[in-house]
Amino acid sequence: MTDQPDVTPKQQLDLIWDYIKGFHAVHLIAIGTELGLFEAINKATEGITAARLAHMLGLHAPYVEIWCKTGCAYSLIHIDETGHLRLAPHMDQLLADKDSPRYIADYSLAATGFYTDDFRRYPEFFKSGEVFTFQQHGPEFSAQIGTMISGFHKLIAYKLLPSVDGVAETLAAGGNILDVGCGTGGLLIQVALANPTCRCVGIDVDKHGIEQAQANIVAAGLENRVSVVLADGSEVAYEDEFDAVTMCEVLHELPLEVRGEVLAGACKALKAGGVMLILDETYPSRSADLAAREYNLAIQTAFNELIWGNIVPTAEEQDELLHFAGFVRVERSQIATYLTALTAWKL
Ligand SMILES: C[S@@+](CC[C@H](N)C(=O)[O-])C[C@H]1O[C@@H](n2cnc3c(N)ncnc32)[C@H](O)[C@@H]1O
Repeated sequence: MTDQPDVTPKQQLDLIWDYIKGFHAVHLIAIGTELGLFEAINKATEGITAARLAHMLGLHAPYVEIWCKTGCAYSLIHIDETGHLRLAPHMDQLLADKDSPRYIADYSLAATGFYTDDFRRYPEFFKSGEVFTFQQHGPEFSAQIGTMISGFHKLIAYKLLPSVDGVAETLAAGGNILDVGCGTGGLLIQVALANPTCRCVGIDVDKHGIEQAQANIVAAGLENRVSVVLADGSEVAYEDEFDAVTMCEVLHELPLEVRGEVLAGACKALKAGGVMLILDETYPSRSADLAAREYNLAIQTAFNELIWGNIVPTAEEQDELLHFAGFVRVERSQIATYLTALTAWKL
């Protein structure tokens, strides 16, 4: 007896073909992003032919034509009767507008870039159990991660933080915030831009991230209010200093043995009544939920960050960590289908 659904061999074959199609679609998006094809189609408000597109970008026309037709087959691009191309609905935000919080094309570059490099290591690492940490990947990787999740920084700075009771007022009144695992400083910069008198401090163990954060802060002209420190979150000694602490895509990156200490340090760093905001993935607790849509990103992250040594915590593990660290009230909400926002308060 098995509780598996009744499916035909043909359905299973289609399932695999759909995955292979997804692989091609990711490459098509990465190529289109690298060559500026989506941006060029988006700018041509009256539509543009493949031949004109190739000419404009100085590309080989027969290749561009097949790229366009494939993009149409994958519902990313629309072609009309006269052969004029336009982006499919909403694809402008997702694939062509780098300033949109919904811009997601950089994920495809990561997938065909460093994720693919890592996946090539998997067979050997599965035998050896070796780890290739986030910090070992190097400066370009740190930069790419910061760019790839820049939409999350805007989401936190402009939507999630202001929606927590009292935080907008405190930051507007010159309050301060600590970002643990700040990476290249994207969140610090967005919070500082959104709150013109607040002060922001970031810490991270990744020296590449911290170096780039310093440069990004200076480039944004924010060095008077925003600073970063190369430090391990489990070793910082701030006490009753910050109105808020944030962690964006960091909790699942912390080695298991330091998770408790990092969260306890974050709690200690907060003033009484201060708030911690975590945006991260949550791994399903039940095997029946492994395929549920809301866990897609968590499942993907746990797999593509496996050899970095990362383990994505379940909801129960997140709650236990936060309570053990000294937070009194923990609230969770599902954000943009795939993410969890955890808000926790210090007494
Ligand atoms: C996915 S990145 C996110 C970076 C940044 N929060 C952002 O949103 O761009 C995770 C970050 O957590 C940092 N990290 C991991 N373990 C840490 C620790 N023990 N203390 C401080 N930072 C840590 C990594 O170095 C990395 O920069």
